[in-house]
Amino acid sequence: MHTPFHLNGKTILITGASSGIGRRAAIDCSAFGATIVLTGRNIERLEETRSQLSGQGHIILPCELLDEKAVAAFAKESPGLDGLVHCAGFVKPFPIAYLSAQKVNETLHPNFYAPALLTGALFKAKKINNEASLVFMSSISGQFPGKGNALYAASKAALEAFSKTIAVEYVSRKIRSNCISPAMVKTPMYDYSSEGMFEEAMNEHVAKYPLGVGYPEDIANAIIFFLSPASRWITGVNLYMDGGFLLSR
Ligand SMILES: NC(=O)c1ccc[n+]([C@@H]2O[C@H](COP(=O)([O-])OP(=O)(O)OC[C@H]3O[C@@H](n4cnc5c(N)ncnc54)[C@H](OP(=O)(O)O)[C@@H]3O)[C@@H](O)[C@H]2O)c1
Repeated sequence: MHTPFHLNGKTILITGASSGIGRRAAIDCSAFGATIVLTGRNIERLEETRSQLSGQGHIILPCELLDEKAVAAFAKESPGLDGLVHCAGFVKPFPIAYLSAQKVNETLHPNFYAPALLTGALFKAKKINNEASLVFMSSISGQFPGKGNALYAASKAALEAFSKTIAVEYVSRKIRSNCISPAMVKTPMYDYSSEGMFEEAMNEHVAKYPLGVGYPEDIANAIIFFLSPASRWITGVNLYMDGGFLLSR
């Protein structure tokens, strides 16, 4: 049966491929036929991800995405790409009254500067192919911030504006750019966020998800859709994935 729900013949770069959503996306995209370029900082965990991929030819290109020179070198080394999935990210709640430039940078650099600089460098190095699809991992916080999350929310809102601008600038080459905004998904980041909360408060929060909290494979399914020909008419959108949380707040 002919189906547009495939990634056959596509080369896809996935950042944050050493953990959580990025790791699952790499595994599932390879099962749909893609060749994966995996990046992250922890080489051992990147190798662990690669060992779980289907098919051959997947490559690991480690990179510290906060290092502008390393990012430029990475872009030169990268093969031509039919897809980019930017999953690398960082969360650390912080009270507004105690902000400093250093605290702002700590969150904005990994969540906004890094994807912006990487994407810019890849375009400059002519590594984004015509008809490519770019997917940026935002968060429901970008539009529905929670207390203590000012920096994280601001970084994701900036990322959403960046993605929409790519959609406008590159539509003539049929390059598409979209965001996915999940609520809580069970990953190491989820565990880290839970550590800062009392168990009772966490249970109360989780109870507000009519469909339960999300799993990395839920997000990977949407990533595959955005990368595949099945979404060829969709660009500049932000897909909320929240198990019904926003409806029932
Ligand atoms: N989990 C959730 O509940 C949730 C909800 C909404 C949105 N999101 C978003 O979804 C994305 C993935 O989250 P996750 O839960 O999968 O996170 P995770 O398990 O903590 O993984 C984070 C990934 O980012 C990479 N990374 C962080 N800083 C980096 C840097 N400076 N340079 C290169 N790589 C860097 C890490 O690489 P190394 O480990 O190799 O350093 C790791 O692979 C993030 O953007 C997050 O904001 C997550």
